[in-house]
Amino acid sequence: MPKITRRQLITFATAMVPAFLVRQGSSAQAAGIGVKVAKSADIKVGQTKIYTGTSSSGATVEVVLTRTKKGLFALDGTCTHQGCGVGAQGTKLVCPCHGSVFAPDTGACIMGPNGAPKNSLKPLSKYKATEKGGFIYVA
Ligand code: FES
Repeated sequence: MPKITRRQLITFATAMVPAFLVRQGSSAQAAGIGVKVAKSADIKVGQTKIYTGTSSSGATVEVVLTRTKKGLFALDGTCTHQGCGVGAQGTKLVCPCHGSVFAPDTGACIMGPNGAPKNSLKPLSKYKATEKGGFIYVA
């Protein structure tokens, strides 16, 4: 899976998940707060949800949103091992390809591929998450 830059994320053109509300040229994008991904009310404290979209280049992009008592976190859902998309399992993010496990708030590697030690992979990339007007934006 190709690596998506933050700029490419901002140029999302379509959405594959209904809650992924992206609009080209929106006032939010113009203000630099990023792409609208979800409603704030959709992510409650203790929840992690994964949203999938397509970049302007046609690549699939996953954004992991997690809300804890410490705040809202947004990560790139692309595993840093070989690029598979991670999935949410309880309070962790698990890669289906080789079993790596990541923290949904920091993106830190809790367990590497095939049982490799903690921090044996780079953490998942972080996005900046902003809430405004009842929606979550990532940049
Ligand atoms: S691609 Fe995720 S653990 Fe290998």
